[in-house]
Amino acid sequence: MKLRVVSDQPWDVAADVLALPVVGEPSFDGVLGELDRRSGGELRSLAEFGELGTDRFASALAAPGETGAGRLLAVSAGPKARLNRQTVARLGAAIERRLAGKKAGRLAIWLGDLADALEGGAVVVAELLARGVVEGQFDPAAIYRQGLKSSPPIPDELILVAPDADVAALTRAAERGVAMGEGANLTRRLANRAANDVSPEVLADEARAVAERHGLSIDVLGPERAAELGMGMFTAVGQGSSNQPRMIVLRSGEPGQKDALGRHLAIVGKGVCFDSGGISIKPSDKMEEMKMDKTGACTVIAAIGTVARLAPGTPLLAVAPAVENMPGPHSARPGDIVTAMNGKTVDIINTDAEGRLILGDAMTYAEKLGATHIVDVATLTGAVLRALGDQMTGAFGTPQEWYEQLVAAGERAGERYWQLPLIDEYRKELDSVYADVINTGPPEGGLIRSALFLREFVTVPWIHLDIAGTAYYRKPAPYAAAGATGAAHATLVELALAGAAR
Ligand code: BES
Ligand code: MN
Ligand code: ZN
Repeated sequence: MKLRVVSDQPWDVAADVLALPVVGEPSFDGVLGELDRRSGGELRSLAEFGELGTDRFASALAAPGETGAGRLLAVSAGPKARLNRQTVARLGAAIERRLAGKKAGRLAIWLGDLADALEGGAVVVAELLARGVVEGQFDPAAIYRQGLKSSPPIPDELILVAPDADVAALTRAAERGVAMGEGANLTRRLANRAANDVSPEVLADEARAVAERHGLSIDVLGPERAAELGMGMFTAVGQGSSNQPRMIVLRSGEPGQKDALGRHLAIVGKGVCFDSGGISIKPSDKMEEMKMDKTGACTVIAAIGTVARLAPGTPLLAVAPAVENMPGPHSARPGDIVTAMNGKTVDIINTDAEGRLILGDAMTYAEKLGATHIVDVATLTGAVLRALGDQMTGAFGTPQEWYEQLVAAGERAGERYWQLPLIDEYRKELDSVYADVINTGPPEGGLIRSALFLREFVTVPWIHLDIAGTAYYRKPAPYAAAGATGAAHATLVELALAGAAR
């Protein structure tokens, strides 16, 4: 997809579709009034008819009248008071998805109304719309099929129309948005692929391809090296499947190198290529969703690639423990006692609480490789989905100043996080008769205890993102198909880029 920023008036732009995002009640003065006049009053009459409401992402196609476009597409951004970065990115995606099955080789989007309403103006809007248009192209239905007619079109050219804009600055911003969107889509494509397609070794191959493309270092540990290093939790989960586990380590910059903020940041992602539950097997209903349990790993692999693309050489570590959690003659059993890489002994009460086991060893290893700050991202608990749904990622962090960095990165990225507390009193529910810690406990407070368990395996500033709700949609939205969402990718990239040399 080519990218072009033009400072012309929207009616002067030649395109197949000219999209017109409208903030709040459409007011037909200024540019929108002129467009309405040129459409022969179509836009105003659609608004009066109720087809172009103020419901966010409501849209209406109109004949082009005296404009350079083949079609006009008016889209509502919802009320001005609630406009934010997330909505603008989603609007780009909603425009793209609205054109599914249609011919839109040259897609133009007018920035005017959004640029006036959003803090940061046209530059921020250009980045977010470009990112959204790219994200809107993602279609999981097309992963295993060729030439699906119903997919959103991939335009030959995206034209951002911003009268009186600084074209060079907007072009740079839009290019950044494209990189962000493509990174999110890489996460999504990997996450959405089936478990008979993406084993831990295949995920490692995908990581090798990312490393190759962006000049990253990569090391992939198999079960023997993992055992030598004492990763008893990681190998216990991995041993149940004939598809061997892989500890995938990607690095940008030099070993241990500090970034501009004095950090050696590690992003650690849960890579359970399939979570059957193991011996503590899950019920069959919705079990197919558990191919998505590798999404955290896909997110960190894609994110380090995006960081390397936008700011090559930025110090960053990505660690992705990849396993298949399966029942079988070699599986870990409830009651097995294993020794973690940090020396703690762990009583595996429930083999379905496997994510925290592999993440614990991955975080210890990240510290061994020099990490001074850690963020882990994982589809860790059904409880976070029940508590927060699919629109808000549950987050834990300590110390609070470090957590605030994540919130700030999330705001830049247009992603939402809800902080949950690390309640020390609940730690005693993790006590074991036989070991230092158990991996589950009673259901009450289970979400908080999942984070308390992880905390046993970190000694540096740490944030845990539970994306079990936000990683994939169970039903489609105007701005995304059902399937992987790419949640947290942009936030991790922003957090890492805060430490890029400038
Ligand atoms: N992968 C699941 C969590 C999950 C559930 C992700 C639903 C996405 C949607 C995780 O490994 C798991 O099984 N968690 C258990 C933990 C329990 C055994 C303490 C859960 O949440 O039920
Ligand atoms: Mn599980
Ligand atoms: Zn899991």
